[in-house]
Amino acid sequence: MFVSKIEKFFNENSDSWEVFKGIMCGNPQNLNGEELVRYMDRMIEYTFDIIETEVSPSSLSAPALLHYINELGVFARHNSQFLKFAAAHSMDAVPEMAAEFIRNFLEEGGNVEIPAHYELYSSALLKDLDINIIGHYPIACTSELVQIVDLLSRSHSPSIICGAFYATEGVAIRETKLLRDITNAYAAIRGKTEANLPNLKFYYDLHLDHGVEQGHISGIARFICKYERYGLKLPQICDGFLQGMQAMTMWWTSLQSVENKIDKLQASEFKIPITTNQG
Ligand SMILES: [Fe+2]
Ligand SMILES: [Fe+2]
Repeated sequence: MFVSKIEKFFNENSDSWEVFKGIMCGNPQNLNGEELVRYMDRMIEYTFDIIETEVSPSSLSAPALLHYINELGVFARHNSQFLKFAAAHSMDAVPEMAAEFIRNFLEEGGNVEIPAHYELYSSALLKDLDINIIGHYPIACTSELVQIVDLLSRSHSPSIICGAFYATEGVAIRETKLLRDITNAYAAIRGKTEANLPNLKFYYDLHLDHGVEQGHISGIARFICKYERYGLKLPQICDGFLQGMQAMTMWWTSLQSVENKIDKLQASEFKIPITTNQG
């Protein structure tokens, strides 16, 4: 029987399950927002430990690595528009949270000082590795992820938006590190080292070392920590968070099953039968 990464987490972390169950049943057991954020962070770390082990970039072939690079670029392409939707849909109820989404949108979507992050990333791939992801047509599981996050970003409930974006931003550091391992593994196959990837290094350093992603995570955590002050509802925050986490972790599971097929195709020998024309 298939068990999702989130179900596996709850199966192995019964205290976390009790917390989420208590909230969804309207009995949060004096839990405060800071504690909930810690439980959410535990789920993110747990699921990404599994994802990193399953993907294992250094063991992959070039076509399998390209598959990940192409699909991972799609979400980045749409992220700024999701943030803009989230700001618009939470503006009336929680303008402070909408302001945080606008701040994030202006970083992701570009401003007068720096191009959009998607532009930075896709041009870095072209310059450093001669990989073109611009206009890539996504496979079905990537389109599904984009659709789910699109729906969540336009939710009627600012609490669902808050939880969902804690999921998407919360995984971003681990996801960016994994993406860096994937592009480094591809570069190694092409005989390049990190030193040959200055544009990708700029992009990764911007997100990881210069605190862009940590800023996004902390910016949303603030609203979960002080949910009562902002009129947000814990069950809906958890609902949005779990929808976001399930969507992203199921996406990784699907990406990996496609990657397995790519690697099997690479490994198998295709012999074209020689036919003789006897007619
Ligand atoms: Fe970014
Ligand atoms: Fe972010």
